[in-house]
Amino acid sequence: MCGIVAAAARRNIRDILMVGLYALEYRGYDSAGIALQQDGFLARQRAAGKVKELEALLEASPIDGHCGISHTRWATHGKPNTQNAHPQTAGDQLALVHNGIIENHAALRNELRESGCEFNSDTDTEVMVHLIAQLMGSGLDLFAAVRKAIGRLRGAFAIAVVSAVEPGVVVGARRGSPLVLGIGDGEHFLASDVYPLIAETTRFVYLEEGDVVALNADDYEIRNESDELVTRPVKEVEVTIDAVERGDYNHYMQKEIFEQPQAVAETLEGRLSASRVLPNIFGVGAEEVLGKICQVHIVACGTSYHAGLVARYQMEQLAGIPCRVEIASEYRYRRPVVTDDTLFVVISQSGETADTLAALKHARQAGYTATLAICNVAESSIVREAELVLMTRAGPEIGVASTKAFTTQLVALQLLVLELARLNGVDETRYAGYVADLNHLPELLNQALGLDAEFEALAAAFIEKEDALFLGRGSHYPIAMEGALKLKEISYIHAEAYAAGELKHGPLALVDEKMPVFAVAPDNTLLEKLISNIEEVSARGGELYVIADSKVVSSFGQRHGHIMGLDTGGPLLSPVVMTIPLQLLAYHVAVQRGTNVDQPRNLAKSVTVE
Ligand code: G6P
Repeated sequence: MCGIVAAAARRNIRDILMVGLYALEYRGYDSAGIALQQDGFLARQRAAGKVKELEALLEASPIDGHCGISHTRWATHGKPNTQNAHPQTAGDQLALVHNGIIENHAALRNELRESGCEFNSDTDTEVMVHLIAQLMGSGLDLFAAVRKAIGRLRGAFAIAVVSAVEPGVVVGARRGSPLVLGIGDGEHFLASDVYPLIAETTRFVYLEEGDVVALNADDYEIRNESDELVTRPVKEVEVTIDAVERGDYNHYMQKEIFEQPQAVAETLEGRLSASRVLPNIFGVGAEEVLGKICQVHIVACGTSYHAGLVARYQMEQLAGIPCRVEIASEYRYRRPVVTDDTLFVVISQSGETADTLAALKHARQAGYTATLAICNVAESSIVREAELVLMTRAGPEIGVASTKAFTTQLVALQLLVLELARLNGVDETRYAGYVADLNHLPELLNQALGLDAEFEALAAAFIEKEDALFLGRGSHYPIAMEGALKLKEISYIHAEAYAAGELKHGPLALVDEKMPVFAVAPDNTLLEKLISNIEEVSARGGELYVIADSKVVSSFGQRHGHIMGLDTGGPLLSPVVMTIPLQLLAYHVAVQRGTNVDQPRNLAKSVTVE
């Protein structure tokens, strides 16, 4: 999704902004631009495509400055071309960058046209810059004009604005999209998240909903949505540059796949004793709240939704608690029937997904006993909105296709399942066995990563494929869904997942000797059923690949195609461990097809618009 970097300093900030834009690439975008204050005017450069195209333009015609704004745009209104790239401007005096969507842009555009404004882009953003210019024309300064203008906007946004008539000043505002203020030594910054600025500062103010900030090199001033002057806490951020660098890996996704044993170990750290989930890891007083829970309702998007689907099986099977799972964009527009003693859970890597955040807000009005967020970004909007929180500790995830965030979400959900199981009176020996299992998970993930070379070799068989099917049953059906999603996201091969029992209700019609079918075969009571389902594939000559628990490998014969065995560690751990080979498969297929693994076309990491 779009990204903002802005700065007011005493030194040339062009490189700071450009480094920041590169760091924001992971969010997904299709054009980039920059505007820097000059003496009496603003100089701007914009390019369709990647930040490196913008850099090439700047090398050909350099612009320098001490104060300015920059942006990566993920197109919503209007094509991803130069004309629609941000900054959008009013003449050469005012420039603005924007994340989000202005819903009433058409009405505002008509009104502004009638008063003589000329529009040069198809964006919703351009109305804001003209509105602010008009208000400044009536005598307001930039800070006041922005505050007044945003009162007229409907929708979600984070913006940064500079004016040629106010040297050294940047104004920012947030409503519905994140914006942080970075505090340097005699300089200040704005950005969509902390990553583009960690080379410059570790001190940040997380702006609140409705905040508007005016900053210069020396100082800043924040007004809240009621226009009152406010002080927000300055937080020290612990993210290091190493955590957001690729190191010796070829792609961020590869790095993040291999970081999973560590990420999972950190997510478990301090949350488990040898025999139990520690009390109140979900927040102060959580034990009392969770003790009342009779039902769980999970809402999320994308990969996080798949994590929720796995948890549903485990919640019902291990904790004996009914669990519903739903896609956030559907849930947020429903009128949910909330029964007594229901816990509402949102799962989000970024903590900023617009639909998930809106679902959480919707849920807070709907009468749930409590809301819990499982999230990877501290200080994100979702973390702030939820009553209870369990942070995954995956560290920054840069690859658009989620890997370590997913497996740490599964682990966080397992902690919830186990805690609810305990409070619900599960058999103590069984409970202690699951806790002991969880402590072994990082080791099993390490072993699974040992399959890397095998999947690299296997991937060569798929580079010409255009379709693939993934099959699983029970808690491994969502793992098959996640495997299919990974493959389609980064290799652009059309991939679908089916509950294996559904095969004969449609997808079997697609199976012939050209169709690869991947089946996930854990060591559980559904194994025989799964084998019958895959017999249906081999009988039609389908190209089968079975990823099986080592203990059940011998249940498969040559007619079942290519069988790969790994130690999956029992019912709780198996979905997490089985995820690894599917990630490796998607990764190697994408690399061999030559796609952009870390920034797949049209996709965004942090989806801050609906
Ligand atoms: C985007 C990302 C996915 C992610 C989904 C939900 O589609 O590309 O990787 O699973 O958003 O994001 P969240 O941050 O809420 O987990």
